[in-house]
Amino acid sequence: MNFELVLGIETSCDETAASVVLEGTKVLSNIISSQIDTHRVYGGVVPEIASRKHIESISFVVGEAFRQAGIEKEDVGAIAATCGPGLAGALIVGLSYAKALSFGLKKPMIGVNHIEGHIAANYIEDPTLKPPFLCLVASGGHTHLLMAKSMTEYEVLGRTRDDAAGEAYDKTARALGLPYPGGPAIDALAPAGNPDAVPLPKAEVSGAPWDFSFSGLKSATLNYINRCRMTSVPLVVADVAASFQKAVTEVLTEKAVGACVKLGADKLALAGGVASNTALRALMKKACEKRNIKLYMPRPLYCTDNAAMIASCGYFQLQQGKISTLDLNANPDLAI
Ligand code: KG4
Ligand code: ZN
Repeated sequence: MNFELVLGIETSCDETAASVVLEGTKVLSNIISSQIDTHRVYGGVVPEIASRKHIESISFVVGEAFRQAGIEKEDVGAIAATCGPGLAGALIVGLSYAKALSFGLKKPMIGVNHIEGHIAANYIEDPTLKPPFLCLVASGGHTHLLMAKSMTEYEVLGRTRDDAAGEAYDKTARALGLPYPGGPAIDALAPAGNPDAVPLPKAEVSGAPWDFSFSGLKSATLNYINRCRMTSVPLVVADVAASFQKAVTEVLTEKAVGACVKLGADKLALAGGVASNTALRALMKKACEKRNIKLYMPRPLYCTDNAAMIASCGYFQLQQGKISTLDLNANPDLAI
C-alpha cells in the first residue's frame, strides 16, 4: 500500500469525476464525465437528474481513473471524496462510493470540503506554492476571499452576500439566450462587444470591503435586457456580455488585489470555475505585476470541477492525520 497515492472522487454538482494523484501534486489520471449536455436542455442543473447520472457513471469513471493511472485499486493508500458543499443527492453518490471502497479495501477515507479542493488545485499547478497566501475562490456556488494559513487552515476575509460570481454569469447568459453554463459562453462572446456600452453598477457592499454582492449587478443587467426588448432599442448581446464581464472581473480583481496590498500578502491564488475566465486572468495578471504580487492560477481544467483537486486536498489532510470515519454524512451547506 502506498499512502502517497490517493484516489479522489468528486460528485458535488454536474460532473462525475475521479482521479489518482501521487504525493498530492502529480496527477496520474483525471477523468471527468460531464452532464452539461443533459442539463443544458433545462437551462441549469436539475438536482434529481444529476444524482441519477452520477449513479450511472461513477463505477466507470473510477475504473477509468485506475486504468489510466496504470494501477490496481488495491494500490491506492487512501480515498478522498467531496462531502460538501454541493447538491445533497449528488454528494451522497460519490461519498457512498468512497465509503464502500474504503471499507472493502481497508484504506482510509477522507471527506473533502469542495471549496478547499478548489484551492488545492493551485498545489497541483505549482507544487512550489506554500501557505500563507491569499486566495479568491469564485465558482458557480461560492465566492470567497480567504487567507490560506496552512494547507488545511483558512481564514475567510470576505464572501458573497447573495449570488456567487458564476451564478451571476449563468443567470445573465440565460437572459441573453446563451447556453448553460453561461460563464464560458459570455467569456467567448465578450471580446466581440464594447465593455463600456452598458452602464452597470459596481458589485460593492458598503462597510464590508472584502464582501461581494452580485445580485444588484445581475438585476441591472436583466433590467437593461428587458428594457431593450420592451422598447425598440436593439439588444447587442456581445455588448451586454462585455459590459457585464467587465463589471464582474473588475470587482473581483480590485478586491483580491486590494486585500493583498492591505494585508501585505505577496502571493495570490485563484480558484473555482470563474478563475478560468480569460478576461479575469488577464486583469489579475496585470494588477499583480503592477504591485509585485506573485499570481497563481491553475489551468482551466483544474479551475472547474475535477477530482484531482479533491485527491490533492485529501492527501494534505491525510498528512495532518485528518481521516474521516465511515459515518461521515454529506453536508450540502458545509462551510470552509
Ligand atoms: O467550480 P465550478 O466548476 O463548479 C462549482 O463549484 O460551482 O464552477 C462552475 C461555474 C459556472 O457558474 C460557470 O458558468 C463558471 O464557473 N465558469 C466560468 C467560466 N468557466 C466556468 N465563468 C466565467 N468564465 C469562464 N470561462
Ligand atoms: Zn466547484
